[in-house]
This record gives sequence, structure tokens and C-alpha cells, in this order.
Amino acid sequence: MEKLGLLYQGKAKKLYATEDPEVLWVEYLNQATAGNGAKKEQIVGKAELNNRITTLIFDELKRVGIDSHLVKQISPTDQLVRKMTMFPLEIVQRNVAAGSFSKRLGVDEGTALKEPVLEYYFKSDPLNDPFINDDDAVALGLATREELAQIATLARTINVKLTALFASIDVRLVDFKIEMGKTSDGEILLADEITPDTCRLWDLRSGADAEGDGAVKDGQIERLDKDIFRKDLGSILPAYHEILGRLENLAASH
Ligand code: TMP
Repeated sequence: MEKLGLLYQGKAKKLYATEDPEVLWVEYLNQATAGNGAKKEQIVGKAELNNRITTLIFDELKRVGIDSHLVKQISPTDQLVRKMTMFPLEIVQRNVAAGSFSKRLGVDEGTALKEPVLEYYFKSDPLNDPFINDDDAVALGLATREELAQIATLARTINVKLTALFASIDVRLVDFKIEMGKTSDGEILLADEITPDTCRLWDLRSGADAEGDGAVKDGQIERLDKDIFRKDLGSILPAYHEILGRLENLAASH
């Protein structure tokens, strides 16, 4: 498969056409950003880590019945994916209060939620990805009411499967962001990436820190995700390596 013209450059990935109109080429980048690009850094090795982590997670989800746009990983930093028409939505699922939820609603980080929360953000750099509700999304034509119902069901199922997956490698899935799109035959699928950039992952192997497991201690929380970068707590690389290592062990176990 050949890499043709650049179609889109995001903050963490570039997207290229291929000679197959149904297949796109994704190149992961080393760039890390926070605050909608206000903080930006090149972190050598991040591209390879996130490409591999997304591939392993999408493969694990496929085993439990959740299909995605992923065709296959083709190099340390590249993968082939199915061409999709993306919904311009960041779809967030929360199990534990943290981040913008804690700030907006005045809830301590770490408070367990009585039910998972589903949120939508409108993907718009000039508007800073504002929080929107179902009516906003339908009124703006970002998705139909029927599509939103499918998106919500799929997002909640992914949360259940992903929570179990991370629990099996001793990680608490606090929250995460996913994106979805539609294939040319109208099927709604999980797309984009699932990595420590897009999830809050708290280490459940308490005290493992002493053995250098990559988690960064922040009060009572052992972080294994991009909050290490967002909060200037140190290098993300050991934490991302730790997540990758645990996922590789899981993949090797079946
Ligand atoms: P938030 O608490 O900042 O709203 O983030 C919720 C989850 O979504 C968290 O796991 C980080 C992830 N996320 C992204 O992947 N991209 C983004 O642009 C934002 C704001 C959050």
C-alpha cells in the first residue's frame, strides 16, 4: 500500500490517502499538546507507543465484539484504517470524577460516579471544543437523533468492555474520549485512537512505583496517562511504556 496525498493534519496524527479509496494511512506524531494546543512539546517515542497501544486496544475490543476502523498496523508509527465520514464529536465517558467534570461541577477528583456519564464536545478548534448536548448536536446537523442513539449505545458498551480490559491489567479507567464515524455503507464504528493521551488511567498496583513501574504519584493518585504532561508532573514515557507492557502481556496470554 502506498502513501499518497496528505488529507488532514491533526495535533497527534497525520492522515493520508492511499490508492484504495476505502483505506486511509494514519501516521502517529511525537507531538504532545494540552489546553487545545496552548502547551506543545515533541516527545520522541510517543508516536510509536500510541500507535502500538491503539492497535492492541482495538484488537482486544475486536475480540469482545467491538469493531473499529483499524485495518492493521504497518510500521512502528503507521497504521491503515477504513475511510470514514467522521462525526465532529468528542465522545467522553466518565466513571470517576476528574478533569473538567470535577472543575465544572465542584466534585473532588476520584469521587466514584453513581452511573457512567456520557458527554459530547463539538470538535472545533476556534471554539475550543465546547460541551454540547444532544439537541445542540441535532440542531447543528452534527448527527441525527437516530445516529446519536447508536453512538450513545456504542459508547456505553465500549466503556463496559474497556473498563474490564483495563481492570484486567490493574488499571482504573477513570474516563476517556473516543471518536466515531460512518463507513460508506452507513455503519457507525469506533475510530481515531485509544491511548493514554485520550484516557485517564490510574494505577491499581499501589506501591509498585518503588519498582519503577512508570506511574507518577500525584497525591493519592498514581497516574499512567497524559495528565502527567498536562500537569507538568514529569515524563510521560515511563507511564506509556508501562501501559504498553501490560497490554502486550495481556495479548500474549491469549
Ligand atoms: P476532560 O476531563 O478534560 O473533559 O477530559 C475527559 C477525557 O477526555 C480525558 O480522559 C481526556 C480526554 N480528552 C481528550 O482525549 N482530548 C481532549 O481534547 C480533551 C479535552 C479530553
